Amino acid sequence: MTILSLMPIDVAAEVVANRALSADYNVLTLGAPAIAAGCFPGQFVMVKSSSRRDPLLRRPFSVFEVVRDAGGSPTAITILSKRIGISTRERYDARPGQTIATLGPLGRPFTVVDPPTEAWMVAGGVGLAPFATLAEALAARHVKSTLFYGARTGAELFYLDFFRALGVELVLTTEDGSLGEKGRVVAPLDRRLGDRPASAPVMLYACGPERMLAATAKTAAAHGRPCQVSVERIMGCGMGGCYSCVVPMRGDDGKFHHVRSCLAGPVLAADQILWT
Ligand SMILES: Cc1cc2nc3c(=O)[nH]c(=O)nc-3n(C[C@H](O)[C@H](O)[C@H](O)COP(=O)(O)OP(=O)(O)OC[C@H]3O[C@@H](n4cnc5c(N)ncnc54)[C@H](O)[C@@H]3O)c2cc1C
Ligand code: FES
Repeated sequence: MTILSLMPIDVAAEVVANRALSADYNVLTLGAPAIAAGCFPGQFVMVKSSSRRDPLLRRPFSVFEVVRDAGGSPTAITILSKRIGISTRERYDARPGQTIATLGPLGRPFTVVDPPTEAWMVAGGVGLAPFATLAEALAARHVKSTLFYGARTGAELFYLDFFRALGVELVLTTEDGSLGEKGRVVAPLDRRLGDRPASAPVMLYACGPERMLAATAKTAAAHGRPCQVSVERIMGCGMGGCYSCVVPMRGDDGKFHHVRSCLAGPVLAADQILWT
């Protein structure tokens, strides 16, 4: 059973490194050993990158990797960031030595399966972020894992060798056909599920744009497979105070209720969500 850290920690984390992966994507290493030591796959941090008023609110980011020293002690976390607005632009330009207010770990993580259940991860774009730590946790349990990973173009498919080194099978798709199968990532997922005997258990894990999550949830339901999705709603506080992050979900009474995805999620059961 996963025992969650009860109290998130707010630290002024030093930027240890900032690696550009492309013109829009970067991986930022933040010196935050206490957060690194307490986080589980799928959890996130709320990050405020400047001391200026604008932007006032922190932004949520999945913990991408936990960095360890030679003795195995956690020293830092990384975040995989896609530049889309004011905070992610600042993050792309961050310099080593600068400090960034970082609060975490937050939210409910993925439930990690055991063999003989296989794990099929489904990532769209920057939705890859929660799967590096999940793949490590699955490998530690000797779970056979596959990553269905789609992006617009082959130049935006990152960390492929990282997943291969963990023994993860890769199924790649690109919208322009420059790497892997041309089209959307749910197509090969649907085919593979169709080929799999009902007696062979598999857990789906998905993170990416809302339309991709909805399509994955629909595909999982059509094949009668369980699916955990990590939703990326706009989050104002990350701690249950602002209700900016609500998701309509079916309650025990069978009716739909709005739940705060920062507390009940970001990892939620796909078949409980009312997809619009
Ligand atoms: C739990 C969680 C984990 C996340 N993990 C990552 C991650 O690992 N890497 C990453 O790059 N991003 C991640 N995101 C999304 C990230 O938080 C947003 O990209 C970020 O808040 C944008 O901040 P900004 O100031 O750069 O953009 P803003 O200037 O605030 O917004 C720019 C534009 O993007 C839109 N936008 C902002 N946030 C979102 C969102 N969540 N969904 C859809 N549209 C949005 C705005 O409406 C606006 O149109 C995560 C979100 C959640 C909820
Ligand atoms: S982000 Fe404020 S309640 Fe969820």
